[in-house]
Amino acid sequence: MNATPPVRVSAGVPESGLRVLREAGVEFDVGGLDLAGRRALLCLLTDRIDAGLLESAAELLVVANMAVGTDNVDLDCAGRLGIAVTNTPDVLTDATADLALALLLSAARRIPWGDRLVRGGGFTGWRPDLGVGADVTGRTLGVVGAGRIGRAVAERASGFRMQLLLCSRSGGVPLGELLERSDFVTLHVPLTRETHHLIGEPELRRMRRHAVLVNTARGPIVDEKALVRALREGWIGGAGLDVFEDEPRLAPGLAGLANAVLAPHVGSATVATRSRMAELAAQNVVAALRGEPLPNPVLRGARR
Ligand code: NAP
Ligand code: GLV
Repeated sequence: MNATPPVRVSAGVPESGLRVLREAGVEFDVGGLDLAGRRALLCLLTDRIDAGLLESAAELLVVANMAVGTDNVDLDCAGRLGIAVTNTPDVLTDATADLALALLLSAARRIPWGDRLVRGGGFTGWRPDLGVGADVTGRTLGVVGAGRIGRAVAERASGFRMQLLLCSRSGGVPLGELLERSDFVTLHVPLTRETHHLIGEPELRRMRRHAVLVNTARGPIVDEKALVRALREGWIGGAGLDVFEDEPRLAPGLAGLANAVLAPHVGSATVATRSRMAELAAQNVVAALRGEPLPNPVLRGARR
């Protein structure tokens, strides 16, 4: 028996993924990012798969990321070295779209504020001016990145009879126009060199003063320091954030802002979704080791 199992799995990958590997007869161990002698890595979005690590992994065929976003992987380097990279699309689309809507509604209707008030004993009875928030039904939603999740959010929003503005590289409404016309803006682009700080001070200043920004994509798409100023100084009305620029740290001042609803990167965090993500990532590992077509290639890799 090989002393170094061919597959390294990051600690925390759900059991459903390990089961797929076992059932396929694949040997693996669970631990950190030691890739010497490994042919496959099943990792998490919190693992930084950088050039140094990839260059140390002479036998690595595939990095199977248990996430749809692959910004934690140096794709240029993996491509150069011929290492395949896979992700877990589709299975998390509904859960993440649901969370985007939850953040939008929570920010508009001030649910965290109300929860704190009630628990703190501050609710002394109904008043016409208590907890007054913003309308959602019939308002305009700008969707930045009309891919799988963006379109799923748009679908849900149409149930609220929202007017939709969609923007992608390949078409739709220009970003500036979307920002100026939307009551709610929701971000669904991947984090790339192009989308880093896509929403910075100039973009926040173009938004409507009552508008709410929802980010379930990746933190660095928004300049978080500028966002804190925008929320504090009233350039925009509110924010619903599942992701942060320097996760898990927050920009100074963000935690103290009552007009920001904050969630701990839980877009795909339902039992069934996380289980399917782990299975899918493991199926990509099995396919790579068998030399079969990869179910979810981001890069096909030339080493296999
Ligand atoms: P997707 O289907 O690939 O959609 C991404 C969309 O972004 C595409 O429509 C793409 O359209 C557009 N796009 C790319 N670059 C753009 C740019 N510079 N300007 C405007 N549009 C651009 O991906 P998805 O499955 O919806 O996932 C989107 C992202 O959500 C992931 O990359 C991940 O970072 C994040 N996510 C977060 C969570 C969470 O837990 N919070 C969960 C799942 C996913 P064109 O190519 O036509 O431009
Ligand atoms: C989660 O953030 C993902 O990219 O799957």
